[in-house]
Amino acid sequence: MAACILLRKQGGQAAGTGSYEIAYATRIICFANKEDKSSPRREGLGFCFAKQGGQILCSCKGSRICFANKEDMMAQIYETDEEIERVLLIGVALDDNDEAESSLDELAELAKTAGAVTVGRLIQPREYFHPATYIGKGKLEEVRLMADELDATGIICDDELTPAQLRNLEDVLNLKIMDRTMVILDIFASRANTSEGKIQVEMAQLKYRMTRLSGLGTALSRLGGGIGTRGPGEKKIETDRRLIRDRISRLNAQLKEIENHREIQRQKRSDSTIPVAAIVGYTNAGKSTLLNKLTNAGVLSEDKLFATLDPTTRVLKLPNTDKVLLTDTVGFIRKLPHNLIEAFKSTLEEAKYADIIIHVVDSVHPDMDRQIAAVYETLDELQVGDKPVITLFNKTDLAGNAETIKDMRAKCSMRVSAKTGEGIDEFLDELGKILRENRIHINRCFKYQDAGRIQLIREFGTLISEEYTQDGIEVEAYVPKEIYDKL
Ligand code: GTP
Repeated sequence: MAACILLRKQGGQAAGTGSYEIAYATRIICFANKEDKSSPRREGLGFCFAKQGGQILCSCKGSRICFANKEDMMAQIYETDEEIERVLLIGVALDDNDEAESSLDELAELAKTAGAVTVGRLIQPREYFHPATYIGKGKLEEVRLMADELDATGIICDDELTPAQLRNLEDVLNLKIMDRTMVILDIFASRANTSEGKIQVEMAQLKYRMTRLSGLGTALSRLGGGIGTRGPGEKKIETDRRLIRDRISRLNAQLKEIENHREIQRQKRSDSTIPVAAIVGYTNAGKSTLLNKLTNAGVLSEDKLFATLDPTTRVLKLPNTDKVLLTDTVGFIRKLPHNLIEAFKSTLEEAKYADIIIHVVDSVHPDMDRQIAAVYETLDELQVGDKPVITLFNKTDLAGNAETIKDMRAKCSMRVSAKTGEGIDEFLDELGKILRENRIHINRCFKYQDAGRIQLIREFGTLISEEYTQDGIEVEAYVPKEIYDKL
């Protein structure tokens, strides 16, 4: 299926074509000529089609073109499955700190992950977001000129826009307007793999859309709102509020079922008494790489934001023969859309039910401190604050001989490289030590007829030594409280 259709420009006019022939296209781009694919001139699906005096007349965003017949029209269309959005990033700096710059850097990363190319950026210092247009009216004109100059096909604002801001910006700029939330939702939509992930993203997208039905205006008449027009965005019939509400309640029911199933699995895990460690961290910190290094889980790891959306759990055997269940969680990010936190609560709750949190930090990221703060903020929101935390300052192979860094909220901080394995053995020792603190040390002699109980220790605890003596079996071990009660 064509993701995009390109038209070459004819006789100085941008070309358009009929909707019934290319209804499956997600976007139409007109180029100066067929060979020059580097500078898209016009983009959109706002075209119409009519038959006039034996000719086919098409208009697209005010430009009109005539084709002698259908064959002539089809001959001038060529397809591509690559569609590249050229975006201009806009942010507002509300005070003197430099957060807006780094937040826009991150927005550029998000845009790249969503498949767009950033062609320009602009920050306006303001005391408050302009209620009607996000940025001030004067700046808007600057954006319009800049977008024209740079051939931008879309604008991404760094904060969540209100429906009115969205509509007004679209009216003034006549370009596709997106905000940070839309881009994150778009990335999530393309990344979700399991049915749970898909439902969660679709719910978040629908809730976002429902509040903006009036604001999205022409955006909804296109096939989708986000960069790649993925996921439920395409379901354009569902723009009606009632339909969306119905869909949300159906999804809710499905999600409940999946959550019940997850709860049963969680229960099984806690019954098994194997401790659970949840790997958390800012997006791209190296969580999946760590999980892969430790357990060969084969989890997707990419230099892209939110490579992993669905939690993966694997058993890890520690050097002291203890076992631990390791769970990867979705990456955290600043300004994580509220709907997404809500939607992914059950996924993030893996951290809530864990015995210990392994916090992976990208130690070479210039914005490391803010990323750490964003992770703790989300953990606090999930009420996970009281668990023991091991903070791993990852990517130490790139850091050179950097000075020691410490996370004051963590029980212990260590430098590791999930890629090269540096520091991993020390981390595993530390993990074993902390997990043992929650276990009971026993030194006991079991009668030979009770030997079956030692099997329980082997399975759920750590057997340090066993010695067969005249009186019975001398055992030294660490066991979880639940097992201790059964011995
Ligand atoms: P999300 O799925 O977005 O939450 O990302 P993540 O935290 O799971 O990160 P991931 O493991 O996908 O790693 C992100 C990028 O960092 C990948 O390109 C990894 O190869 C790279 N990376 C991870 N750990 C290290 C490391 O120790 N050293 C170096 N040099 N690169 C690393």
